[in-house]
Amino acid sequence: MSNKLWAGRFTQPTDAFVEEFTASIHFDQRLYRYDILGSITHAEMLARQGIIATEEAEAIIRGLNDILAEIEAGRFVFSVAREDIHMNIEARLIEQVGPVGGKLHTARSRNDQVALDVRLYLRDEVDAIAQALRQLQSALLDQAEGNLDVIMPGYTHLQTAQPVLFAHHMLAYVEMLARDAGRLYDLRSRLNLMPLGAGALAGTTFPIDREWVAAQLGFAGVTRNSLDTVSDRDFALEFCSFAAIMMMHLSRLSEELILWSSADFAFIDLSDGFCTGSSIMPQKKNPDVPELVRGKTGRVYGNLVSLMTLMKSLPLAYNKDMQEDKEPLFDTIDTVRGSLKVFAAMIAEMTLKPGQMKIAAGRGFSTATDIADYLVRKGLPFRNAHEVVGKTVRYCIENGKDIPALTLEEFRQFSSDIGPDIYDYVTLEASVNARKATGGTARETVEREITLARSALKESI
Ligand code: ARG
Repeated sequence: MSNKLWAGRFTQPTDAFVEEFTASIHFDQRLYRYDILGSITHAEMLARQGIIATEEAEAIIRGLNDILAEIEAGRFVFSVAREDIHMNIEARLIEQVGPVGGKLHTARSRNDQVALDVRLYLRDEVDAIAQALRQLQSALLDQAEGNLDVIMPGYTHLQTAQPVLFAHHMLAYVEMLARDAGRLYDLRSRLNLMPLGAGALAGTTFPIDREWVAAQLGFAGVTRNSLDTVSDRDFALEFCSFAAIMMMHLSRLSEELILWSSADFAFIDLSDGFCTGSSIMPQKKNPDVPELVRGKTGRVYGNLVSLMTLMKSLPLAYNKDMQEDKEPLFDTIDTVRGSLKVFAAMIAEMTLKPGQMKIAAGRGFSTATDIADYLVRKGLPFRNAHEVVGKTVRYCIENGKDIPALTLEEFRQFSSDIGPDIYDYVTLEASVNARKATGGTARETVEREITLARSALKESI
């Protein structure tokens, strides 16, 4: 009546639409390699522990390897009737090796099996994403190092504030990504625990060796409570939280690249390979890649909220709701990997327009704070110095002049403490290079930070 692996207690077949509706095979088939790896290790353990015979384990493992080859060759037919990746593989195994295949699921449940598969899969993805993060960091560092003399306006409220090195701006993103990498590393330690042995929820009556399985699969240890083990999706939530924050960082960089590549800023050129044209306006070159990454940040946030909402108030232990964890997780992984990959390449090819940046950096009285600091060094309290420079700026606005273009007499109308050495302090270079304290934008400080960031990157590999 039914070929389902669990159909023993049923008298009627599954409704055809319900079968379709409850299946996860269209998306969880991407776990196949991890499902097979976990099953092979499980079968080996069962034999080692004398729970099944060695020849039985061998037949099972041979069958599993054949299935792996079938899937990789694109010859495996995934079946909706077999619901998910676990039952597709197990049913095919029994088809191929006979009833002995039915022994594989001894001392195991799909509940601990799916937890194992997702942990194994996510662990590999975490490692690949950590690598992709490093590649983007190193592209940013290359841009910083290759453009150490480029000065650009620094903004607050998107109003010209103080000049900064372009390299300093790049290093800000290197820092953000370093924190992202730290979050990834941290969540990996909680992810890297072996769940098999929790059974459906209460553990197993068989004398299994969980620690051996954990060691075989490269886990740092085993989970400690069977109920928690099959209920826990914190690792997916932590990953999606990491991803949301990381995408927020990329969205900010995206926004800046979009602004900088506009005709009004004209600070950078994104290479043609990362832009598209307009079907109506021939002059257009649109920064599609950063726009899309900025847009994709929304779906990554959405995936986090989906998962949080999915897990909210679920009673222990496994509930079918939890099958819905996969699509948001997989989509987050794909989006993050794609975004990092395209960003690393785009940053590597980005070119600068240093002249434009410098002109912009000189606008908006960006060295006004430097005059205030100058007066403070002459003994004036900072508040009074601020007042003096405020008046100087107003004078400049009214007379259509820039600060460095003022004559000494003009300067001295506002404070007799100003001497001819003021001109050493109001250039863009002087303003930038005066900020030498750790974390500041002075060239020598930035150079030191580039070296430090490079060696931190090397160590993390
Ligand atoms: N396809 C299921 C999932 O992804 C596997 C676990 C099913 N367990 C169960 N008792 N129905 O969550």
